[in-house]
Amino acid sequence: MQEENRSLVLTSRPDGLVGDENFELRTGPVPRPEEGQMLIRVMWLSFDPTQRGWLLPGGTYRAPLDIGSVMQAYAVGQVVESRHGAYRAGQLVQGLLSWQDWQLSDGEDLTVVPEGIEPRAMLGIYGTTGLTAYFGLTDIGDPRPGETVVISGAAGATGSVAGQIARIMGCRTIGIAGGPEKCGWLVDQARFDSSIDYKSERVGARLDELAPEGIDVFFDNTGGDVLDSVLKRIRRRARIVLCGSISTGYVPKKLPPGPSNYFNLCLRSSRMQGFLLGDYRDRFDEGRSALRKWVDEGEIVYEEDIKEGLENAPRTLRRIFEGANLGKQLLKVAEAPLPLA
Ligand SMILES: NC(=O)c1ccc[n+]([C@@H]2O[C@H](COP(=O)([O-])OP(=O)(O)OC[C@H]3O[C@@H](n4cnc5c(N)ncnc54)[C@H](OP(=O)(O)O)[C@@H]3O)[C@@H](O)[C@H]2O)c1
Repeated sequence: MQEENRSLVLTSRPDGLVGDENFELRTGPVPRPEEGQMLIRVMWLSFDPTQRGWLLPGGTYRAPLDIGSVMQAYAVGQVVESRHGAYRAGQLVQGLLSWQDWQLSDGEDLTVVPEGIEPRAMLGIYGTTGLTAYFGLTDIGDPRPGETVVISGAAGATGSVAGQIARIMGCRTIGIAGGPEKCGWLVDQARFDSSIDYKSERVGARLDELAPEGIDVFFDNTGGDVLDSVLKRIRRRARIVLCGSISTGYVPKKLPPGPSNYFNLCLRSSRMQGFLLGDYRDRFDEGRSALRKWVDEGEIVYEEDIKEGLENAPRTLRRIFEGANLGKQLLKVAEAPLPLA
């Protein structure tokens, strides 16, 4: 067993983008589990825009991470030593862990990686992003066959899955993403009907061409000008799914003015509704089994963008705010230390 534990500790709050300078790499002994605890070797880290919110001084939907704490993250790890009745050494688990090599846990909010699933997929397609796409689109977006569905952040981990589910449900799909590589992937690999490169094209004019009759469902990951352009073009009884607002960088003091076309929601008897994935905690098994079926049938494809090395975690988090990732951003910390259970 590796003799020491490296951890990345928050030493200052970022002003804009997260940087290496906000964290300090510290080393210490590997902790030992007490009765009711287990020791987990962290193997895979997930990078999620919501982590930026955890660093805000006022917090978001949860309390802020304190200065001096190890940065938290959704992760997959292996139980190496267990003094917990419900877990045994060798099991792979997924849940809220942190940016360190070794972690003690009392098992709260951990899920055992189901049989037959690639462990890191529990952070993407069968984890936060895939489930967010599934519940946000099917429950809040409520798409019906023949409708036009627009997705922003479409080549990302959540958006790419939401768009493919819309296609499976018989809708016409338009993905908005940054750059020709992502836009090409959307149409060629993820089988969106069309894509718009918001960095080089005029989004409103392209929406007029691609959806002349208007937009029924908008799954919004970015907010900002794109949201305003879509609001201008919604059809009667449209549904706007507020999934995320990454164009704001999740830094409240730099928030732009609100969308000027919001009154179309009234004029077109439409609704705009936000949600948090946690609202659907009781239905995660349903979401995972639907996603597994579609992946197994080849109806959903997904990309993983993999970096390595715990010390690279801060700059890897930064990538998703720079649009450097294609698909789910992950970082490999370690191989499984024990033969898999
Ligand atoms: N409501 C919930 O419970 C919930 C749960 C999970 C995720 N989310 C939200 O879902 C969204 C996607 O998250 P994800 O984890 O799947 O990340 P992701 O889409 O894989 O990565 C983030 C992407 O956002 C785009 N982006 C970054 N800065 C942008 C900007 N200024 N303007 C426009 N686009 C920008 C980039 O794509 P481009 O290169 O195309 O710009 C980047 O690749 C986020 O808004 C996140 O907060 C919400």
